[in-house]
Amino acid sequence: MVKILVIAASDGKNKELAELWCSVGSEKGHTMSMVDLCAANLPLYTPALDKEGRPEGVSELEAIFEQADAWIICAPEYNGAMPPTLNNSIAWLSTHGDDFRGLFNGRAVALSTHSGGGGNSVISVMRMQFSYLGCNVVGRTLISNKNKEANPESMAFILEQLDKMS
Ligand SMILES: Cc1cc2nc3c(=O)[nH]c(=O)nc-3n(C[C@H](O)[C@H](O)[C@H](O)COP(=O)(O)O)c2cc1C
Repeated sequence: MVKILVIAASDGKNKELAELWCSVGSEKGHTMSMVDLCAANLPLYTPALDKEGRPEGVSELEAIFEQADAWIICAPEYNGAMPPTLNNSIAWLSTHGDDFRGLFNGRAVALSTHSGGGGNSVISVMRMQFSYLGCNVVGRTLISNKNKEANPESMAFILEQLDKMS
């Protein structure tokens, strides 16, 4: 059974979705943990700030990401793309050491969203970015919104895939 980190990119419905992932994953015997990117409260990445060194919180976040075999992302769609919390965290986590893909290469990643509408755009954008960073992104995804609850069968299937890939 794998160690799975659930990454909540917003502290509303997507955090609730992250909590649901944790309880479903635990029931299936996985070691689940969650991180809330809003609570991490990282400053906005700029090249000038980067030159001053790593801000407080980035190394801690990196250690949390590093210790997991696999990640499940819960992110709302913002203007057809990912929210700034996620994009900003990825920017900081990709600017340490010689290889920007260091933390990401070969990592099993599953994508999920609770969005205002369909949520397909944020899933596509996340797939593109995590694949670019070298992650192995699970084909099946979880999309929910106010009219569509998270499908337990999809969650079970995705957890099985992460187990096989890790
Ligand atoms: C700045 C902004 C842009 C948004 N753009 C979209 C969008 O493009 N597509 C969509 O389906 N919902 C969009 N929404 C709605 C959010 O995806 C939706 O409210 C989501 O459930 C918020 O997640 P949370 O409760 O975890 O914060 C947007 C919300 C905000 C604040």
